[in-house]
Amino acid sequence: MRVLITGGAGFLGSHLSDAFVARGDEVFVLDTGAIAKVRHLLDQPRFHYVHDSIFNLELIDSLAAKCDLIYHLAAVVGVEHYVADPYETLNVNVNGTQNVLKAAYKYGKKVVFSSTSEVYGRNPKVPWSEDDDRVLGATTIDRWCYSTSKAVGEHFCFAYHKLGLPVAVVRFFNVYGPRLDRVDVGRLFTIFMGQLLRGADLTVIGDGAQTRCFTYVTDAVAATVAAGLNPAADGQAINIGVDVETSVLEFARLMLELYGPTKSKIKFVTQESVYGNSYEDIPRRVPDNAKMRKLLGIEPRVSLREGTRMAMDWFRREAQA
Ligand SMILES: NC(=O)c1ccc[n+]([C@@H]2O[C@H](COP(=O)([O-])OP(=O)(O)OC[C@H]3O[C@@H](n4cnc5c(N)ncnc54)[C@H](O)[C@@H]3O)[C@@H](O)[C@H]2O)c1
Repeated sequence: MRVLITGGAGFLGSHLSDAFVARGDEVFVLDTGAIAKVRHLLDQPRFHYVHDSIFNLELIDSLAAKCDLIYHLAAVVGVEHYVADPYETLNVNVNGTQNVLKAAYKYGKKVVFSSTSEVYGRNPKVPWSEDDDRVLGATTIDRWCYSTSKAVGEHFCFAYHKLGLPVAVVRFFNVYGPRLDRVDVGRLFTIFMGQLLRGADLTVIGDGAQTRCFTYVTDAVAATVAAGLNPAADGQAINIGVDVETSVLEFARLMLELYGPTKSKIKFVTQESVYGNSYEDIPRRVPDNAKMRKLLGIEPRVSLREGTRMAMDWFRREAQA
């Protein structure tokens, strides 16, 4: 099978590429980003890296024509990016998604769209099941543009599904692992990791009681592969994540413990000092993952302790390389 992965040189895309190459499939990655996360695949004859954008319509058309299955992961991701550049976030995540869906529709190729737990916004009723409400703030607050952009992408997916295109929507919950962002930027794991490597204090926002459900990348990828291969996923939105809730403070403590002797400590900081006034954190973020388990047949296997240790080992090796 030939698989197109937009955004395939990113964190999740690189692991998804590994999974399909390991299955014996041919993988085409379309990404504007750096090659570092897929460098290890470049000498595989079944792996092709196309360094270009989902805004190159001719290219998207030709890739959609020759591939059997399309994963659309390309997006502007990460709080610091979507707060800093809402235009680019909306443009890539909405207009870029339309480009991919249009080309897929032309050739009748199944699309798996990568959405996010952020679509539920700050809905206080957890765990969130796929049909739960989206509870968001005002459009004058840039913080909500990422959630909205992904929700619009989902609406497009379901609209195309009504037109007859097989489409599955996967909503990821805080996936982490090797090759996540650069240390010190991006997501919680890499921010704490960068601080540990520098011997700096781990900055916990607020009182650290806000919770996340951290999902190890191999578990997320197994579910994502299944969503592409299993026709039962077509026309569905599916939460991809573990349902074990961990507070940010507990996570910081776990990272300190697993890192071993260090002069780093936990330091509580205000949200405004990190993200400015326009950011609003989500107090609890928990998936109902029954659909992932029953429809896709995926049970998360990696505990937070085990996954954090594996990811830490990888980042430590990278820092020494
Ligand atoms: N990792 C998570 O926990 C998580 C959670 C929720 C949703 N997601 C979604 O999963 C997908 C992958 O996320 P990730 O964590 O791997 O992030 P990532 O930033 O590592 O990957 C996104 C990739 O998209 C590429 N890209 C951006 N604009 C592009 C364009 N115009 N054309 C082609 N490529 C472009 C980037 O270069 C990058 O490699 C995203 O759609 C994201 O919204 C991830």
